[in-house]
Amino acid sequence: MTVVLQWRDPFDNGEINALHAEAFETRVFDESEWNWVDLTAEHSLGWVTARSDEGVLLGFVNVLWDGFIHAWIQDLMVLGSVRHRGIGVRLIESARDQAKLAGCEWLHVDFDDELRGFYLDACGFKPATAGLMEL
Ligand SMILES: CC(C)(COP(=O)(O)OP(=O)(O)OC[C@H]1O[C@@H](n2cnc3c(N)ncnc32)[C@H](O)[C@@H]1OP(=O)(O)O)[C@@H](O)C(=O)NCCC(=O)NCCS
Repeated sequence: MTVVLQWRDPFDNGEINALHAEAFETRVFDESEWNWVDLTAEHSLGWVTARSDEGVLLGFVNVLWDGFIHAWIQDLMVLGSVRHRGIGVRLIESARDQAKLAGCEWLHVDFDDELRGFYLDACGFKPATAGLMEL
């Protein structure tokens, strides 16, 4: 299967909400609840899509930033049926390259312990201490 990655590829809310529900095991949100097109346009440095050669959305990652030298990985997701084929790592590598091209010097991510192998070993992030506060 050919998987095509694209930076700032147009997408529609239906396909991304379906992928999100499958990847994070939630219900499928309606675009009136979660409008990814509007939110990414307003808040993201960009995003990367992974599509099959038929155009089916297989994976996605959102890249937030501070407008200067820091970028953050958010909402990385790969369809369950195509996991463990390297798509997640390719999405992160593309996000990293695009953030660097935009002038960013640091790429941040936070994750649960179970994903240490993915982010630290497979993607090459260095471990760092971080803080989180529920609002
Ligand atoms: C995490 C996720 C994006 C990985 O996508 P993927 O395309 O399967 O990842 P890759 O094939 O590039 O993985 C490369 C390596 O990373 C490691 N890895 C991948 N998924 C992992 C997981 N869930 N737990 C631990 N290690 C993992 C493995 O070593 C893997 O190599 P292998 O396939 O030979 O075992 C995918 O499992 C997913 O969408 N999960 C649900 C959503 C989620 O948790 N997103 C992250 C939020 S922080």
